[in-house]
Amino acid sequence: MTVSDREVLLGLESFGDAVYFVDRAAFVANVERFRAAFQRAYARANLGYSVKTNYLPYFCRQAHALGCYSEVVSEMEYALVRALGVPGDRIIVNGPYKSAAFLRRALDEGAIVNLDAAYEIAALEELAADGDRSKRPWRLGLRCNVEIGGARVSRFGFDAEGGNLRASAERLRRLPGAELVALHSHVCTRARSVAEYEELADKLIALADDLFGDRGPEMINLGGGFFSEMPEGMRATFGAEIPTFDEYGSALGAKMAKRYGAGGPELVLEPGLAILATAMHFACEVIDIKKLGDRTFVSTSGSIYNIKPTKSRRKLPMRVIHRERAPVVECRGADLAGYTCMEDDILHEGFDGPIAVGDVIVFDNVGAYTVVLKPPFIKTCPPVVGYDEASGAFFVVKREEADSDVFATFAMDGGVLR
Ligand SMILES: Cc1ncc(COP(=O)(O)O)c(C=O)c1O
Repeated sequence: MTVSDREVLLGLESFGDAVYFVDRAAFVANVERFRAAFQRAYARANLGYSVKTNYLPYFCRQAHALGCYSEVVSEMEYALVRALGVPGDRIIVNGPYKSAAFLRRALDEGAIVNLDAAYEIAALEELAADGDRSKRPWRLGLRCNVEIGGARVSRFGFDAEGGNLRASAERLRRLPGAELVALHSHVCTRARSVAEYEELADKLIALADDLFGDRGPEMINLGGGFFSEMPEGMRATFGAEIPTFDEYGSALGAKMAKRYGAGGPELVLEPGLAILATAMHFACEVIDIKKLGDRTFVSTSGSIYNIKPTKSRRKLPMRVIHRERAPVVECRGADLAGYTCMEDDILHEGFDGPIAVGDVIVFDNVGAYTVVLKPPFIKTCPPVVGYDEASGAFFVVKREEADSDVFATFAMDGGVLR
């Protein structure tokens, strides 16, 4: 799925020389297809919307409306989804840094809090001793650190193999007014293969047997890390099999069904990239084309920070919309370069084909880890807009950042002591 040429050109005319476009149809289809793939094999499956992957309220609200949990990893994300009207009991709190005040707020409001380290248990023991707390039982989970493929792949959670997890579970069970209800794990390996997720599921089910006995916990949460869907050209660049949503879902759902039958723990998945990558597109304009020695640089009004802030060299699906405003240059192996002063600000290496100043370049698969990671480096963040077919009008999802938004946190007198 992509955004039409007409929408892109209209959007640039209305909003400036670089614009993100949301793709509601792609987002909803991804959520529903991903979840259905698991539910076909195990009906009690649901998603936690990975808020950090893209915390635009546009997506957070829709994920909540679609029945997903909101999965947050910080107090800021928690505050955001609460402000958007998500009730505490539809929130899953993960992450390695939780202040005592945050733990208390989230637990008193009914969120499931997956603990990552022993300092959190110590904080809870202190908080539990305080009489002034809500009547609702605290709902806790433990993040399990397990080896996958013979290697430890994560710095997060409690050591499941060394006995640390079991001791922590026992400590939590002694905590007054608290229930241990969930086991969680999130691993992100290079291969993201079905076999690795099967190993993860086996390990979590075995841990659940050990810690919870026959009925299991209320929730088994296998985290995210799944591949998104992508066009054939992009698949080929991974040099390995890219599993489909159906392959992930049928394999992991089958593990749960085999162990628990139909009515076991809720199986939660936290796909970020998998459901968001194709839900946004980015368009920018060609501002100049220059040849330096044997290299051709196509300078643009976008940046690698807009589409791949981690500076990955992976080529995103892209296309050029010709506007016929200037003479066409036939390129071979050109670099599509960004507006910053960094040499490595290259949005796309090795472009072949005709292109001209004024043409528009559209990048797909930019919905995950882009607007949330884009630094205020050199230039502000472009607007994010959507197009409403019914009214034929655009709506603003995130307005263009103003310079003053960036300056707002500065002491403009330099913070100089007088
Ligand atoms: C706990 C947790 N859940 C879900 C995700 C989403 O991961 P991905 O975007 O790879 O699916 C992450 C990402 O780091 C995570 O840490």
